[in-house]
Amino acid sequence: MSRRPLMAGNWKMNLTPAEAAEFARGLRGALLDLPAVDVAVFPTSLAIPAVLNELANTDVVVGGQDLHAEVKGAYTGNVSGEMLKSAGCGMALIGHSERRAYEGEAGEQLANKAKAALRAGLTPIFCVGESLDERESGRTLDIVLGQLADGLGWLTESALGKVVIAYEPVWAIGTGKVASPEQAQEVHAAIRAWVGNTWSAGAARSMRILYGGSVKPANVAGIMTQPDVDGALVGGAALKVDSFEAIVRFQES
Ligand code: 13P
Repeated sequence: MSRRPLMAGNWKMNLTPAEAAEFARGLRGALLDLPAVDVAVFPTSLAIPAVLNELANTDVVVGGQDLHAEVKGAYTGNVSGEMLKSAGCGMALIGHSERRAYEGEAGEQLANKAKAALRAGLTPIFCVGESLDERESGRTLDIVLGQLADGLGWLTESALGKVVIAYEPVWAIGTGKVASPEQAQEVHAAIRAWVGNTWSAGAARSMRILYGGSVKPANVAGIMTQPDVDGALVGGAALKVDSFEAIVRFQES
């Protein structure tokens, strides 16, 4: 079964609402003839309405960078999945390594966030990845598959079908040190095998697994040649329309 690529831009804590709207206007023009890929952008919560407004009636999906597990309540500074959904979002990032590192997110908390995204009708992009230390000590697959088991292991097969996984090695994020296509493929293949063993061969075949970490126009095509890489989650190179457009159009280069 062929999986449709998903090219996603995570803007992190960049672009004011006005800058984000300008980006979205540019993206709208650049992607009028969208190639056969899915495209998503993840602005800050504050910029989501402006971006959605500019991208109205396009196929570009707008998502939240995080969500709280509860629907509403006394959780200062947080945004719920239901709020993202009602604003018009279609996806949410969960467990990004920056949230794991700086906000101490892990384990059951991330499982609850994945559950919350599904409850709200959002597609979770569940992020996993090992640090340099973990890779150098030969623990990459233990770490990555452990993060997946903690976060997604409780899902039914039909719920799993709504999830996207993003493999983002921490040592490759924002460092310019992209994983080689072979390094990415090795981990993606292990993730797909884990999905197959935990649920079914069908679930494994349809699971979309994105690679993230220093993806650029110059290296995206090489990464995308790998059979188990189904898209990219892009940070820095997704902050300029022309560079994000080149990534989205990787098949044309
Ligand atoms: P960079 O593309 O800037 O390395 O960031 C990757 C990332 O963290 C996307 O979520």
